[in-house]
Amino acid sequence: MSDVNISIVIPTYQEVENIPLIAAEINTALAGESFEIIYVDDDSQDGSFDAVAKLSHEIPARIIVRTEERGLSTAVIRGIDEAVGKYIVVMDCDLSHPATAIPHMVEKLKTNEADFVVGSRYVEGGSFDEDWGFLRLLNSKVATWLALPLCHVKDPMSGFFSFERERLGSTKDLAPTGYKIGLEIMVKGEFASPAEQPIHFKDREFGESKLDFKEQLLYLKHLRRLYKFKFPTASEFLQFGLVGGTGFIVDSLIYFGLQLFLGLNHTVARAISFWPAVTWNWFWNRTVTFTDRDKSKKLTQWLSFVMTSLGGFAINFGSYTLLTEYVPFFIEKPFMAFIIGVIMGMGFNFMAARVFVFRE
Ligand code: GDD
Repeated sequence: MSDVNISIVIPTYQEVENIPLIAAEINTALAGESFEIIYVDDDSQDGSFDAVAKLSHEIPARIIVRTEERGLSTAVIRGIDEAVGKYIVVMDCDLSHPATAIPHMVEKLKTNEADFVVGSRYVEGGSFDEDWGFLRLLNSKVATWLALPLCHVKDPMSGFFSFERERLGSTKDLAPTGYKIGLEIMVKGEFASPAEQPIHFKDREFGESKLDFKEQLLYLKHLRRLYKFKFPTASEFLQFGLVGGTGFIVDSLIYFGLQLFLGLNHTVARAISFWPAVTWNWFWNRTVTFTDRDKSKKLTQWLSFVMTSLGGFAINFGSYTLLTEYVPFFIEKPFMAFIIGVIMGMGFNFMAARVFVFRE
C-alpha cells in the first residue's frame, strides 16, 4: 500500500516554463501532505523532461513522455493509471487553476461531503479573467448548458477536478473524444454527490491554448456519446424524432416540387415523395440514431423499415379516423386527434425500429 495520499495529474504539451511554477505552487499548497505530481507529456521536446528531472530533487514529481499517443484526455487517463494516491486531482499546467484550491477540494472528499469536486468558475465566489471576448464567453456558456443535464455541477467543462480513485473503477470504459475528460469521468464513474469549489480561472501567461474549432466539433460528438450512455432510450428517441423531422422536410419539398415543376397531380406527388423521404429516414437512422446496432443487409433492412413506416402511418391515420368518427370529444377537435395520431404512429415506428429494424 502506497503512503501517497494525493496524486496530481497534469497533462502537458510545450509547457516548459510553467512546469516548475505549478510544481512550486502545489508544493506550497500541500505542505505537510503526502502527494505526487505526474506530468503526462506528449513529447514536447522543449526541455520539459529535464525541467521535471531538475525539480524532482526537491518536489515529488515525475514525467511520463508519450510518443505513440496524443491528446489531453488520453494523457489524463494515462496519468490516472499511473497514479498511486487515494485521491486524484487533475489540473492544467498553465497556472490557470489555483493550486491553493486543492486542499479544499480534497477535504470535501475526505469528509465525504462530496465524491467528485470540480474547481468551478461559475459558482458563487468563482470567477475568470475579465478579458474573455464575447465569442469565447458565449462558446463556453453554450457548451456548459449543453452538458448540464448530464451532471449536477455548474462548470462541467472544467479541466480542474478531483475524486477518490476507487470510485472510477477501470479507465478502460472511458472513450474520450476531445478535451472533456472530467465530464466523462463524472458521468461514467460511481459519483452520486458532486460538489464545486469556487476558483478564479486565470488566463495563461506563457504558451498558447490548444482549444480550437476542431476540439469544439469533437466536443459535440463527445456529448452525443455521453447522452447515449446516460439516457440511452431518450437520446435514441430524440435523434429518431430529429431524423423524422428532417424526413418530413424532404417529403414536403419533393411533394410540392413535383407538382410545381413537373405539373404532377397531388395524389401522384404524394405517392412518389414517400419513397425518398422514407429512404432518407432509414439512412440517417442507420448511420446516426442506431449507429451501434446491426449494420447487416441494407436492402432487407430498408424493406423492413418501409414496412414498419407503413405500419406507423396506418396507426396514425387509423387512430385519427377512429377518434374523429366515433369519439364525440374529438369530432369537435380534429387537430387534437391529429396530434394523438402522430404521437401513436411515431411511438410505434420508434419501437418497431428498435425491436425489428435496427436490432442490437
Ligand atoms: N499531454 C497533452 N497532450 N497535454 C495537452 C494536450 C495534448 O495534446 N493539449 C493540451 N494539453 C495540456 C496543456 O499543456 C495544459 O496543461 C492543459 O492540457 C490544458 O490545455 P490548454 O490548451 O491550456 O487548454 P485551455 O486553457 O484552452 O482549456 C482549459 O479550459 C477549459 C475550460 O475553459 C482546460 O482546462 C480545459 O480542460 C477546460 O475544459
